[in-house]
Amino acid sequence: MDAYAVIGNPIAHSKSPEIHARFAAQTGQELSYECLPAPLSGFRAVVQSFIADGGKGANVTLPFKLEAYGLAGRLTERARLAGAVNTLKFEDGCILGDNTDGAGLVRDIVRNAGVALSGKRVLLLGAGGAARGALLPLLEQHPSELVLSNRTHTRARELATQFATYGNLTATEHAGLRGAFDVVINATSASLAADVPPLPAKVFLPTTLAYDMMYGKQPTVFMEFARRHGAIARDGLGMLIEQAAESFFLWRGVQPQTAEVFAALRA
Ligand code: ATR
Repeated sequence: MDAYAVIGNPIAHSKSPEIHARFAAQTGQELSYECLPAPLSGFRAVVQSFIADGGKGANVTLPFKLEAYGLAGRLTERARLAGAVNTLKFEDGCILGDNTDGAGLVRDIVRNAGVALSGKRVLLLGAGGAARGALLPLLEQHPSELVLSNRTHTRARELATQFATYGNLTATEHAGLRGAFDVVINATSASLAADVPPLPAKVFLPTTLAYDMMYGKQPTVFMEFARRHGAIARDGLGMLIEQAAESFFLWRGVQPQTAEVFAALRA
């Protein structure tokens, strides 16, 4: 049976094995998918021994996405631009690195939430790995404007400069944000600390989709903040499932249905 895994630290509570088991059952694919913990200094060794044991591919999560980028012998364009890898495919002695996070985000917004990005004003909060991975897939949707805003403004400015050729992207400090946005995406890790980036309330309209890449049993503080200002809020569970579906497609060439997996995990 073809073997896949998710590698991270910590990893025991990952939802990926359940998601991929559901995809496999639904599409009739015979495969195994396990959690593979790696010591902080042992990512490469864990990957190599998994390959030696016949592993076909792996998802990579915190804190190893940069190391996975360095380990890949070949990179997709979106992984190269993201500077990080969340999906590895092992074939013919080569390690291919891909990044499916941004595609997962876009698909959850456009298809699942039913909110178009094309021609829209989009605000992306953050300038770390999560924001970086989202930039190319977001710009490929041709928003009328993509504004990047981060606590440390210089980081947002550097990213905006680097991605300038891919679309209408600017960096603006929180306090300098003008007008309302159709979609506001929180790619910061602020929700982990129960923090909300100090945004002007006027960024939200009643029709604004406020999307937090984080998710949990309860709405995040960012979602609550956005709802208090009248916006429609959504968490990142759908993004998690869609990025997994994209990895599954890369490995198996089959696109799983995500709606039933979303319903099962939400329940
Ligand atoms: P990740 O790979 O998850 O994006 P990261 O590279 O550490 O992680 O980036 C974290 C992002 O969340 C950064 O944009 C960070 O802002 P800074 O660049 O100013 O550090 C942002 N962030 C983290 N905690 C935050 C908080 N409490 N308020 C606002 N932004 C925060």
